[in-house]
Amino acid sequence: MAALRFQERNRYFERLFTDPELLWMGQNTNHLPTPPAVKAAMIRAIEEEEYHKYCPPCGLGELHGLVLQDLGLDGLAVLVTDGGTEALYQRSRELLEPGDEFVTTDPGYLVTNNFARTRGATVIGLPVYRPEQAYRLTPEQLAGAVTPRTKVIYLVDPLNPLGISYDEATMRAFCEVARKAGAYLIHDCTYRDFADAHQLAARFYPERTFTIYSFSKSCGFAGLRLGAVVAVPALVERLTVAQVNNVGSNVVSQRGAIAALRTKAEWFPALFALERRHQAMIKEAVEAVPGCVAPVYPSQANLLAVDVSRAGVHPEAICTALLEQHHILARHAGYHTERFADRFFRVGTTVPTAWVERFCAVFPKVIEALIAVPQAAARARLF
Ligand SMILES: Cc1ncc(COP(=O)(O)O)c(C=O)c1O
Repeated sequence: MAALRFQERNRYFERLFTDPELLWMGQNTNHLPTPPAVKAAMIRAIEEEEYHKYCPPCGLGELHGLVLQDLGLDGLAVLVTDGGTEALYQRSRELLEPGDEFVTTDPGYLVTNNFARTRGATVIGLPVYRPEQAYRLTPEQLAGAVTPRTKVIYLVDPLNPLGISYDEATMRAFCEVARKAGAYLIHDCTYRDFADAHQLAARFYPERTFTIYSFSKSCGFAGLRLGAVVAVPALVERLTVAQVNNVGSNVVSQRGAIAALRTKAEWFPALFALERRHQAMIKEAVEAVPGCVAPVYPSQANLLAVDVSRAGVHPEAICTALLEQHHILARHAGYHTERFADRFFRVGTTVPTAWVERFCAVFPKVIEALIAVPQAAARARLF
């Protein structure tokens, strides 16, 4: 019997996961060494076999305090989740009903849009891949899209896949639009640490904002599956009525996360500086190729988008060639948008410098080889 799509997809990712040669630059994950104190905390939790017990359902109290301190927020409640993804799922499940509208950007983070659709909501993706608006959502665009049926505004900021972020005036304006519409604002701040300055909607619209927090990117915990949602206590109470993970998140991950946040001031500045150096290297290499440009620079997330719409090569063809010929995983725009799928791809930057150098060396050759074979430069399907 032919494999079903979920089986094919899993096989595809398992092949990637188990490939020791693969340069993992396609999921904005962080592959730089873990600070020793963080590793030690996780090893201690394993050696003491703490994992025999379930953790408290909303997470360890010390971690709550550290997350709030990291965000600079107080008076709010924290619910620790198995990654930001669980937090996003739970929000959609609790907030949305058939007929509701869910307003977000296009490109955006499509997993969350799918969660909304499964609740019967209509997803409205506002186009932002436009140089004339600096690849950002504008308050006017948002105000023009909300209707009495708008239940949720989902703002990924900094935005995966483009790396744009918003200033205080714009964030206040978004909050005003949400308040007038009586809508919930899901502010997905997964990439917040990589922004020069970041404005939390929770400061301006605390009563209906859910702040989504992840340990996957700056802390490098993607495979440890840890995140959180922060909101006023009454909203968190509502989310815990039918909580997905009613027996708490992974204790090893939480011990590591506590150590990571306690020591963040010691290790994060060097990581940030390295990430920006990598962005500069990638920008220089891609812009040396005719028709290629990094439209958002510096990116405010640990990724750089590369526009190839004038290079005569489809982004999917580039990602296929990078993977199959050079063992480099990058992500084409089709993961984030149908409308702009032929415009760009993105590459992760929190990786060893040798990976960035390799990407920079092979990229011009990949484009040159694809242009030489027009059928190859057209679209090719990956997952
Ligand atoms: C915008 C956005 N939100 C959430 C996530 C998921 O994060 P987590 O690993 O914490 O589930 C990602 C992962 O790439 C993301 O890009």
